[in-house]
Amino acid sequence: METITDIPALRARLQCESAIAFVPTMGNLHDGHLSLVRLAQQKADCVVASIFVNRLQFLPTEDFAQYPRTLADDCKLLQEQGVNVVFAPDERDIYPVPQEFLLEPTPLANTLEGEFRPGFFRGVMTVVLKLFNIVQPQVAVFGKKDYQQLQLVRAMVRQLNLPLEIIAGETARASDGLALSSRNRYLSSEERAEAVRLHQVLSEMKRTVAAGNRNFPQLCRNARENLAGHGWEVDYIALQQRDTLAPARADDSDLVALAAARLGKTRLIDNLEISAGA
Ligand code: PAJ
Repeated sequence: METITDIPALRARLQCESAIAFVPTMGNLHDGHLSLVRLAQQKADCVVASIFVNRLQFLPTEDFAQYPRTLADDCKLLQEQGVNVVFAPDERDIYPVPQEFLLEPTPLANTLEGEFRPGFFRGVMTVVLKLFNIVQPQVAVFGKKDYQQLQLVRAMVRQLNLPLEIIAGETARASDGLALSSRNRYLSSEERAEAVRLHQVLSEMKRTVAAGNRNFPQLCRNARENLAGHGWEVDYIALQQRDTLAPARADDSDLVALAAARLGKTRLIDNLEISAGA
């Protein structure tokens, strides 16, 4: 495995590759990221993973400075997983001058996560487009853990005619159901025990919809009350159409329940796909 930090060296290394599968990350890798690498390996002989904590997608009040940076451990995991190239640029490489060209995403970016993190998806889409231009992959893999990000990347690829295929990886979870996340390390041990409730309320929504309940606003209210009653500060609980992430109507069948909530200082997000049947 080669670890490359500058763009010209990366371009020179990848020039001879005919098919590249790409996994962009912000590092502090866990098995969720590695499951995306395994998917990428099924798609192309050359797998490139990037590690870059993208300042542009953090609000001034968010955890950019504190975000865990564990490059040596990350490279070890990627090497064990058989990744070919790690691209770990410095901020100077990605943003040599102030980034004034910014990618304005679709209105979907102003809902759900975007409502609570204004400008977040502009920062994500801008860096993802830059990374696509630098790596020039045929395939890129994104996790369903960040469902809205995945759908916005898909929309960007379609609407900007980018010549690559987006593959989605399932959410990797701890044995109790908590979605793996780099931010889980901020949780105290009591908070870690409580954190599983986020997955549990989404699972309860899934069971209730499967049992035929179509009162979606009520289901969201119940989930919100359950979390709030156990000390969570809920940003949103929503039941949406899977592709458009528009609010689900009673006759929609391919749904996704999405949630974001804070436990103490830690903000967690999760989601669950739900099939409502005919
Ligand atoms: P990061 O949070 O590091 O996540 C990198 C990729 O791993 C994303 O596609 C994310 O959805 C996926 N991922 C995270 N947790 C996962 C889990 N438990 N199971 C499966 N996949 C999981 O998402 C970003 O970085 C950034 O926004 C990025 C796209 C790199 C742009 O800066």
